[in-house]
Amino acid sequence: MGRNRVLGGGADLRLADDRAAGHKQRMKRDFPHQPLQFREYPLEEMRRRARAFADDLNHRRTVRDFSDRPVPRDLIETAIETARHAPNGANHQPWHFVAVSDPTLKRKIRAAAEAEEKAFYGGRASEEWLEALKPLGTDWEKPFLEIAPWLIVVFAEQWGHWPDGRRRKNYYVPESTGIASGFLLACLHHAGLATLTHTPNPMSFLGENLGRPKNEKPIMIVVAGYPAADAVVPIHAVQKKPARDVVTFL
Ligand SMILES: Cc1cc2nc3c(=O)[nH]c(=O)nc-3n(C[C@H](O)[C@H](O)[C@H](O)COP(=O)(O)O)c2cc1C
Repeated sequence: MGRNRVLGGGADLRLADDRAAGHKQRMKRDFPHQPLQFREYPLEEMRRRARAFADDLNHRRTVRDFSDRPVPRDLIETAIETARHAPNGANHQPWHFVAVSDPTLKRKIRAAAEAEEKAFYGGRASEEWLEALKPLGTDWEKPFLEIAPWLIVVFAEQWGHWPDGRRRKNYYVPESTGIASGFLLACLHHAGLATLTHTPNPMSFLGENLGRPKNEKPIMIVVAGYPAADAVVPIHAVQKKPARDVVTFL
């Protein structure tokens, strides 16, 4: 009986496979596809590339002391281009990046962020949250928002629009914008720039100051530039959990 069940299961699987193949063929006919452009490397080259990438990114640190040294716009454009190519729900690309270098706007953003952060550190945040932030040495003052040459504000598009103006649902918006932001940070670091992921709480003032529509929600400011000559980072942030605590191979 067990044997028959296995045979039956196999036939069912083959039938299901055939149906799936037919369905895939129809999909490819209705929605055109193109050959994948895939770069394959010899195994040793793969190991070298993975190691080099890991070594580079393992040296990324969140920086809070910035220099005002200018950074050319094309580097920021390249980093945003990397972010735009991130995987995302249904390829709706539910994001918008606003790159700010204008000193007047940066001053405005700093003033608004500091007003919120003053309230946050002054009692709006829970004791537990403030305790968690202590080892990082952060407070309400955010001079980097004016000093650093670039503030890249990442907006999550909560919903989009069809060409006829109807509202279009977006999918996996937090995941998609989170991955895109990771790509952005990785590219900026890889290019040789220092970054800070800054999330003033709350940050709705960003949409108002930057003239973004109501369907976009700011999720972070990526501060980018050169580090100050005397920049330091908290030891607390350098200490990462060992792989055995955060990785499982099965
Ligand atoms: C979603 C998110 C929000 C963050 N918000 C802030 C922030 O508002 N201010 C700040 O100084 N750092 C912020 N950080 C940076 C973290 O404190 C930092 O990534 C963490 O301490 C680890 O340090 P590392 O980035 O150097 O590895 C944020 C990071 C993330 C991912």
